[in-house]
Amino acid sequence: MSSSDRQITIPKFAGMKAAGQKITMLTAYDHTMASLLDSTGIEGILVGDSVATVVQGRPNTLPVTLDEMIYHAEMVGRAVRHALVVVDMPFLSYQTGTHQAVANAGRILKQTQCQAVKLEGDIYQVTEALVAAGIPVMAHYGLRPQSIHQLGGYRVDRDRERLLSDTKTAEEAGAFAIVLECVPAELAAEVTAAVSIPTIGIGAGAGCDGQILVTQDLLGVTPGRVPRHVKKYAELGNITLEAVARYRDEVRDGSFPTKEQSFD
Ligand code: KIV
Repeated sequence: MSSSDRQITIPKFAGMKAAGQKITMLTAYDHTMASLLDSTGIEGILVGDSVATVVQGRPNTLPVTLDEMIYHAEMVGRAVRHALVVVDMPFLSYQTGTHQAVANAGRILKQTQCQAVKLEGDIYQVTEALVAAGIPVMAHYGLRPQSIHQLGGYRVDRDRERLLSDTKTAEEAGAFAIVLECVPAELAAEVTAAVSIPTIGIGAGAGCDGQILVTQDLLGVTPGRVPRHVKKYAELGNITLEAVARYRDEVRDGSFPTKEQSFD
């Protein structure tokens, strides 16, 4: 299957707002998880640069490279039949000029079977150039993890005037959707009403047109404390620990493998 055969296209995704249908998105970084998520019928899968922290064990999203994003996006792109697949452009793959941004986003679409890219922040010209080249853009405002040093930490974004103006600008530049991360619920609802493209919230309340979570957070496999906006729908971390401990004990006491798991 090619990316153009997928059931959720950019127009369908964007049109869900006008139809009053909520949009569900989750992150995926590999083929197995992407297939599982896709089979549930969610509308969008993001190959997030959160791969840096969730998979690579890095302290923030800044170190992940374009080649690494393409490596993960290619696995996800090959797995997905239904959902729209969006790939994060990593730090410094689009901030250094429109020419480089188009070349890098073009590599993502050419090499991964994914349909769109996501950019963090205030970059009208880059969005416009990508859209002109036929590359769909999802914008990302509020807390922008790639600007963590400038923002001084992972904080809720309460700057109403800037958020309203930035999101309007992203819409004018041709973005098809906007992620709002860690924005007060009332402000996110105001932004949502002010733009005609869908807003996808994470820590931005129920007034957004859709929601996204990091899948590992939702499944309860993220070690340590999870952010306030996360709801754990399962405790797969504990289930994994229990299963592995039973396996370890059975290997040690000789009760695994039995005849059932052996060949004659
Ligand atoms: O990288 C990511 O996972 C994201 C989501 C949190 C929106 O950008």
